[in-house]
Amino acid sequence: MIEFSDGITLLQGDIIRETSDAIVNAANSSLLGGMGVDGAIHRAGGPKVLAECKAVRESRYPDGLPTGEAVATSAGNLSSKWIIHTVGPIWRGGASGEEALLKSCYTSALDTASQLGAKSISFPAISTGVYGYPKERAAIAAFSAVKEWLSAHSVELSVRFVLYSASDMDTWSAVYKALYG
Ligand code: APR
Repeated sequence: MIEFSDGITLLQGDIIRETSDAIVNAANSSLLGGMGVDGAIHRAGGPKVLAECKAVRESRYPDGLPTGEAVATSAGNLSSKWIIHTVGPIWRGGASGEEALLKSCYTSALDTASQLGAKSISFPAISTGVYGYPKERAAIAAFSAVKEWLSAHSVELSVRFVLYSASDMDTWSAVYKALYG
């Protein structure tokens, strides 16, 4: 685990073990679950989470949650208070607005967390699995979006990046240190 002075923490782990007020799910627009983080969170969160996702779909997103947007549900059986579901961009080579959409995932999740009154939030490496976003580029986009948001909002919100593998932890911490020292 590496804790930086700006309130950002990087750690290797399983996001379902996080005790942050909010954990972020790398969902798809259906909000009906999937593999990776999505699968892990729904399995650990239990059927209440899926039921709330279905209700959100019906009431607010009949056509699905758009890429880059975020929506909160309770965390079901998880120890967090909320799950914030966001849909990352699928990597298509970098010329289809992927970076802006990925940054929007982070800023929309932070907006949602602060509206809920969350004091801590845990992110996975959104879009870097099934969606194929190159890891270094995703880290650069994530860190710049989060740091920009934190400097523009005077709220107490500690941000944790939960990297699933040792190599991802190495990559993300190397990017952070190269960018911010
Ligand atoms: N905890 C933390 N990180 C995890 C976990 C976990 N339990 N499981 C996977 N990861 C990591 C992956 O190694 C990857 O680095 O999260 C990152 C994101 O990977 P995905 O979960 O595949 O998410 P993404 O690339 O955004 O693709 C989303 O995959 O599962 C489906 O329904 C989901 O269609 C959506 C797509």
